Order: sequence, then C-alpha cells, then structure tokens
Amino acid sequence: MEKLKILTYPDPFLKQKAQQVTKFDDSLKELAQAMAAAMYDNTGIGLAAPQVGHGLRLFVADVDFHGEDSGPKNPIAYCNPVIKNGQGRGMNEEGCLSVPEYRAEVERFERLTLEYQDLDGNQHSLEAEGLLAICIQHETDHLEGKLFIDYLPPLKRKMVQNRLKKLAREA
Ligand code: NI
Repeated sequence: MEKLKILTYPDPFLKQKAQQVTKFDDSLKELAQAMAAAMYDNTGIGLAAPQVGHGLRLFVADVDFHGEDSGPKNPIAYCNPVIKNGQGRGMNEEGCLSVPEYRAEVERFERLTLEYQDLDGNQHSLEAEGLLAICIQHETDHLEGKLFIDYLPPLKRKMVQNRLKKLAREA
C-alpha cells in the first residue's frame, strides 16, 4: 500500500462517523499496516482510520512508542471498538496528528474495558488504564467524528480552530 496521508483539521472527513468493519480480509490488514507505518513516521502513539481518509471503525495504537529509541515496535489494531465501564476521571494533556502544533488538557476516564475485534475478526475484551485508556478514548472519538479540541470551552475552541484554519490555508 502507498504511504498514507494524514488529514488535518478542518478537513470535513474528520467529522464523519465511521462504519463498522465487516470484512476482515487482506486489504484490512494492509490498511492497518500502512496506518501503523504512518503513525510511527509521525511519532504518534495512535491513529484512527478516518485520519487517513478511510471511514472504518479501526484504529492502531502503540503507547510504548516515543521515537527512534523506543525498542521493538508493537502496533495493535483495534476494530469495532466499544468502551464499557469507564471509571474515574482525570485531566491529561493530549495532542493529535490531525491537529498540528497544539496540545491541551482533556478530561477522560482513567480506567475502562474495551471490547474490540482483531484483524481476523476475533472478539477481545481488554482492561486498560493510564496512557492506553486515554489513547483508546481519543481514537474511539475519531470514529465518531470527534477531535480532542471539541472538548475545549467554546471560546478557546474557536480560537484554536481559527488558528488551525489559518495554518491549513498557509500550508
Ligand atoms: Ni487524534
């Protein structure tokens, strides 16, 4: 598969709700592989299919990755993720490959259970906390057409959106 281009705000595709994965075939595996490559290329820890122009309920993540010296890469693909049983609330700084040059504190569950399917369609249930729990909530939001900046207070959100639109025009 060719290198994937990461869409950035205000690309309207990022606002669309993604569709269930129903075909667990080779092209799904190729897409997940190309998404992982794009994630690592851009030093991200998670990337959702809508961010690369595919309207599928799929994301990849590797929360242990922090750049060149991270050691062995271990990308995991999550299909049709459903968050259950969120517990605790905490504020954490987040960034997003689709929201360049901006980070902000967002409130999320501290612990959760994730039900998802792997690339072969097998069902899994995962208990997550810490950075993985945050990453899962951030990426699952992408499948609903939601970005982390949507959680900002309205005035701040507007300011950030305007700055990002200006950045996009200048690109
Ligand atoms: Ni993101």
